[in-house]
Amino acid sequence: MSDPVRQARRITRPVVLVGLMGVGKTSIGRRLASALDRDFIDADEEIERAADRTVAEIFEAHGEAYFRDGERRVIARLMEEGHGVIATGGGAFVDPETRALVIENGLAIWLDCDIDTLVERTSRKNTRPLLKTGDPRAILRDLKEQRSPAYAQAQIHVVTGDGPHEVAVERIIEELAAWQ
Ligand code: S3P
Repeated sequence: MSDPVRQARRITRPVVLVGLMGVGKTSIGRRLASALDRDFIDADEEIERAADRTVAEIFEAHGEAYFRDGERRVIARLMEEGHGVIATGGGAFVDPETRALVIENGLAIWLDCDIDTLVERTSRKNTRPLLKTGDPRAILRDLKEQRSPAYAQAQIHVVTGDGPHEVAVERIIEELAAWQ
């Protein structure tokens, strides 16, 4: 086991990935959890399980505010359960209650990358209701501007590129290893 991995494994609080749609929170989170030998859970999947509907269906049937209420409750439960690595939906950490809870009891990692990469990655799936209301590039650019001040409150900031997720995982592990 490499030294950074050993160091990173000292962390016992949930590591919570935050950041915009398409940055890779779920795939990176899965790989990170496996490297840290902790469990992984995806908040959007848990919301879908609890509601027995997809995120898109929840938005369509009840609107965004209703989705955000469910999201807040589910993330509070996941924090309480003490999972190893939690991937959140892009809007979750913007909610002040969720943000405070995560910062207080977990270790938030802001995964950040350029708009071109986000546009390319989000174009592969058609499941994100917020990107269906207009030009995805313009929407992502606006969200980045609006949300960056909230994301910046995460304890750790990792800028990733369009390279393989393994590289991002290594960078996160180095940051976790150095985190006091
Ligand atoms: C959202 C991001 C999505 C999902 C929902 C809303 C957002 O999750 O929670 O569509 O507000 O940014 P991902 O970031 O995993 O795509």
